[in-house]
Amino acid sequence: MTPSRTSVRLVEVADAAALAGHFARDAKEFARWQPARPEGFDTPSHQAGRIEQLLATHSAGSAWPGVIVADGEVVGQVAVSSISRGPLRKGFLSYWVATPFQGQGHATRAVGLTLRVMTGELGLRRAEAHTQTDNLPSHRVLKNNGFSSWGIAHAHIFMDGAWRDEIFWERNLADGEPGR
Ligand SMILES: CC(C)(COP(=O)(O)OP(=O)(O)OC[C@H]1O[C@@H](n2cnc3c(N)ncnc32)[C@H](O)[C@@H]1OP(=O)(O)O)[C@@H](O)C(=O)NCCC(=O)NCCS
Repeated sequence: MTPSRTSVRLVEVADAAALAGHFARDAKEFARWQPARPEGFDTPSHQAGRIEQLLATHSAGSAWPGVIVADGEVVGQVAVSSISRGPLRKGFLSYWVATPFQGQGHATRAVGLTLRVMTGELGLRRAEAHTQTDNLPSHRVLKNNGFSSWGIAHAHIFMDGAWRDEIFWERNLADGEPGR
C-alpha cells in the first residue's frame, strides 16, 4: 500500500476536536509514554485552551507547536519546544501519532519535515530529543532522521507510576538534508 502523504503545520484552535478524539481513544496506549493528564484533558474545550497556550509560546518565539496531517486529517502532534537562540540555536523535539495511523511512516516523515522547519523558518542548528529506553518505535523515528544517542539519564522522567531511564538524542542540523 502506498503510504499516505504526510505534512506538518502549526496547530490551530480548530484542531481541538480532532486532538481530543485521539487523546480519548488512545488514553490507555499513551499512558505509558506521555505524562499523566488532568481530568477533562481529552475534551475539545480543554484542548482549545491548551492550543491557545501553545500558540502563545509560538508568538513568544520559544516553541513551534505543530500537528501531523495525513490526507487532510490531523493524526498527531509534533513540536519544537525549549527553543534557545544566541550561541546555542537549538530546540527540543517531541511527537506522537494516534494509534490507527501508526506504523505507516507518519512520525518518521513528520520529524523530517519538522527538522526542515527548524533549519529554515526557525534558523536553528541543533535538534535534541529524549526517548524512554524501551520505546523502540521512537528510537527508529529518530534514527531514520539521522539522530545519534549520546547518553542515558537514569530515573529521568516519572511516567506511568515509575521513574524511567531516558536516552538523550542529538541531531546536528548542519549535517545535511534532514529526514527522508
Ligand atoms: C513512537 C511513535 C510516534 C511512532 O509513530 P509511527 O507513525 O508509528 O512511526 P513510523 O511509522 O514512522 O515508524 C517508526 C519505526 O518504528 C518501527 N516500529 C514500530 N513498532 C515497533 C516495535 N514494536 N518495535 C520496534 N520497532 C517498531 C517501525 O518499523 C518503523 O521503523 P523502520 O522505519 O525502521 O521500519 C508512535 O508509536 C507514538 O505516538 N507512540 C506513543 C507516543 C510516543 O511514544 N511518542 C514519542 C515519545 S519520545
